[in-house]
Amino acid sequence: MPISGEQYRNIGRAAAGAVSVVAADARDASAVVALTVSSFVTLSFEPPLVMFAIQHNADSYSTLVASKAFGVSLLASSQCELAQRFARKGRDKTLDFGFERGGRLAVPLVPQALAQIECSTNQIVMSGDHAIVIGLVEGARTREGEPLLYFARHYGTFQPLP
Ligand SMILES: Cc1cc2nc3c(=O)[nH]c(=O)nc-3n(C[C@H](O)[C@H](O)[C@H](O)COP(=O)(O)O)c2cc1C
Repeated sequence: MPISGEQYRNIGRAAAGAVSVVAADARDASAVVALTVSSFVTLSFEPPLVMFAIQHNADSYSTLVASKAFGVSLLASSQCELAQRFARKGRDKTLDFGFERGGRLAVPLVPQALAQIECSTNQIVMSGDHAIVIGLVEGARTREGEPLLYFARHYGTFQPLP
């Protein structure tokens, strides 16, 4: 490794990011899989593409890389508990959660999120110990509010400079 693990982790701590929940139906539609991510990025305007990265050892990995569609919910600052919930392990985290369903692709979405994005899977790029999942945006809803951000292992929100 060209740098130490500690150096790499410090880079991660220096990078502030918006917090999202990515969710999809299991292939047999028996359950929803969902995880918290800070790797969501808007990628391309024309066509409208977005992406996130998922680690190989996530329980949601095999479902998400095989799924035809997924939902991305950009969380509001009031939704910190949901970020913590979906960052946990265990199938129970989605069992009694009231996901909304998108109007276009019927993907699972978090109610009251700042943005609810319905994506069809466009491309999967294997990269290191993550897969980059690229989605074509087929539907979206946004609402006004403050974003939930993650920086230096803490949740917070956006404060404009004076
Ligand atoms: C703020 C935050 C951001 C995260 N971002 C990512 C990410 O971009 N990609 C990823 O694979 N895991 C990310 N994680 C870790 C997953 O949420 C965590 O490993 C989760 O337990 C995976 O769930 P699963 O095993 O049910 O799939 C993040 C966790 C937190 C708290």
